Amino acid sequence: MTDTVIGIIGGSGVYDIDGLQGATWQSVDSPWGNPSDDILTGTLDGVKMAFLPRHGRGHVHSPTTVPYRANIDALKRLGVTDVISVSACGSFREEMAPGDFVIVDQFIDRTFAREKSFFGTGCVAHVSVAHPTCPRLSDACEVAAKEAGITVHKGGTYLAMEGPQFSTLAESRMYREVWNCDVIGMTNMPEAKLAREAELCYASVAMITDYDSWHPDHGEVDVTEIIKTLTGNADKARNLVARLPALLGANRNPCEHHCDRALEYAILTAPD
Ligand code: ADE
Repeated sequence: MTDTVIGIIGGSGVYDIDGLQGATWQSVDSPWGNPSDDILTGTLDGVKMAFLPRHGRGHVHSPTTVPYRANIDALKRLGVTDVISVSACGSFREEMAPGDFVIVDQFIDRTFAREKSFFGTGCVAHVSVAHPTCPRLSDACEVAAKEAGITVHKGGTYLAMEGPQFSTLAESRMYREVWNCDVIGMTNMPEAKLAREAELCYASVAMITDYDSWHPDHGEVDVTEIIKTLTGNADKARNLVARLPALLGANRNPCEHHCDRALEYAILTAPD
């Protein structure tokens, strides 16, 4: 058994967590550059926690400029074992309404202007991301959401787009009707891939703010509507996060899905 250290990456609207004991904002150096911000560490119900605002306090990083590698590396350096990503998204499904949460389990990565790997120069590694999220962590997020009274959908495919603009109507229809995606956002990739390379369990809690642009009754993405829903979602997310320590416990066994040993199962080539 090893210590559980829960890492929360907070998205738009989520800039801290409640009730942390011994809360300290810590600066973490990484060879991959500066993380988005300092990291808030402390304990909640006796479990170590580390919180990183993905866009930085004051929302200074766009989805493209978020330093994804530095963020994952900094969490790893703090001893984080379990990463829960909390982020805003649009919905492609009538039944997945604004205000609902989706525990994402698949991604289609359409981002193209981001560094996506820790490997490439000197040491090349190909890890599997066939199942990019951790089922154990995802289950805990689902239970926490239900306990918090949130309408939650378990499982869904997240289209990761580059942004910062929202999708055109033709793109939105293609993602929904042809690619069968459930939600769309701008930040979960390459974050999920990097977490796997760093051998961290990763779960994604996607908080729906809008119906993207496909919905005939909602028209194009309305920023005022998004911000209103976002504020409500942030309160729900805080409630969800507060329940995770009790569900995950202060100690953990090796991940039965091998997230924490991903490199043992990877194809690796080291320099001669
Ligand atoms: N984040 C919130 N809503 C979104 C949308 N419709 N598309 C991409 N990212 C989003």
